[in-house]
Amino acid sequence: MGAAVQALVGAQWGDEGKGRVVDALAKEVGVVVRYQGGANAGHTVVVGGKKHVFHLLPSGMLYPNRLCVIGNGVVLDPEQLIKEINELDPAPGDIGTRLAVSRAAHVVMPCHKRLDAASEAFRKKNDPGSVIGTTGRGIGPCYVDKYNRTGIRAEDLVSPESLEKKLRLNISEKNPVLEKIYGEPPVDFESMYRQALEWGAFIEPYLSDSSLEIASAVERGEYVLFEGAQGTLLDVDHGTYPFVTGSNCVAGGCCTGGALGPGRIGRVIGVVKAYCTRVGEGPFPTEDRGKVGERLREKGGEFGATTGRPRRCGWLDMTALRYAVMVNGMDVLALTKLDVLSGMDELKVCVEYEINGKRVSVFPNSAYALEKAKPVYESFAPWKEDISRCGSFEELPSAARDYVSYIERASGVRVGLIGVGPGREDTIYRDF
Ligand code: GDP
Ligand code: IMO
Ligand code: MG
Repeated sequence: MGAAVQALVGAQWGDEGKGRVVDALAKEVGVVVRYQGGANAGHTVVVGGKKHVFHLLPSGMLYPNRLCVIGNGVVLDPEQLIKEINELDPAPGDIGTRLAVSRAAHVVMPCHKRLDAASEAFRKKNDPGSVIGTTGRGIGPCYVDKYNRTGIRAEDLVSPESLEKKLRLNISEKNPVLEKIYGEPPVDFESMYRQALEWGAFIEPYLSDSSLEIASAVERGEYVLFEGAQGTLLDVDHGTYPFVTGSNCVAGGCCTGGALGPGRIGRVIGVVKAYCTRVGEGPFPTEDRGKVGERLREKGGEFGATTGRPRRCGWLDMTALRYAVMVNGMDVLALTKLDVLSGMDELKVCVEYEINGKRVSVFPNSAYALEKAKPVYESFAPWKEDISRCGSFEELPSAARDYVSYIERASGVRVGLIGVGPGREDTIYRDF
């Protein structure tokens, strides 16, 4: 266990295995905080062969006595939160004291999901190249309201008067857009208001001042882990804009989305998959639409944990990883799904791009430049052995060790944890 306050972030386009690494760390931390994103996330933890998928609850929930915080930077989908709490298995009897939901978190309302779908359909009709392929969870429209200062916050769900006023105003702006721009039926104030109050009654016991919870835990010297959702390349500022999500997924996001002075972050953990995947639209230089991609998808079970969509797959991209290391200031890497590469006929890594005939080693954080990037590959010796039972680095075949060592050299960051299977026990620790 490294520093007391740590940020864990995805180094690629999401689904790197953040959930399982949070679970691995959760046995030692006291507090786990989600600080951005919403129910677009799907974080999988497998314990004793049983799969748990967290969309909104922090992935530390499976360990007893951990305080799990949903910070102000999260966009909260109460319907999903209630479902997730009710479906927790085994149900933690102490959830009332273990879950803290920020009063300042913005609420994803049904109209946000409607607008998300309608906007995607509008793009498809008017400019198919601009479709994002969102998760349909209302994320973008909810953040729009937040920054437009017309959003509904968790605290409003337990305050009928302010809720009524805010919701009326909000809907009176939204309905003309739904009807006149998108040709959709309007949303109904009464049913949304009633539903919001029901959500409020359920959520009230969990509402708290999350900044105070976090600050007090840090002050007490507890181990606090910030659990990033999505990934660096989906960050609204640093990702492949416009094919990104609506929040700051990078490590810096935890300072604003969870209330933390930047100087308090003791260690940044980057979670990186041994190859690359992406769900939704947008450039992906190493995508393989042939046999290699198919093989990675099949063996890696690369289907979305939130939407079930097949993930696009391809080789590891070091240009992108070096960029993720840079914008997050990563101190250590957790390398997941190394076992998926066992038995490949070939093994390649993108070391640079060629853009307009020129070699480029710096990741262009613009979708338009990245669309033109052709990967320059280096080949590595593949290995045939099943590595899922390997308990230490030394037990790995030499070709797998070489692959890991190369990633360390080329990224400049140590690999402290290696995933050789989805289960809690399928983990190699190297001074993590
Ligand atoms: P997250 O969103 O970053 O938490 O990742 P997801 O849960 O969406 O996707 C990761 C998938 O890979 C899940 O199905 C995990 O159970 C699985 N997984 C994670 N680490 C490993 C690993 O080291 N090996 C294998 N085979 N599967 C893994
Ligand atoms: P986790 O936390 C992978 C992608 C969507 C789409 C884009 C915008 O499990 O890694 P949004 O619904 O956020 O407006 O969609 O971002 N996306 C993810 N891809 N993993 C995720 O989360 C994602 N969350 C959003 O597919 O391309
Ligand atoms: Mg996921």
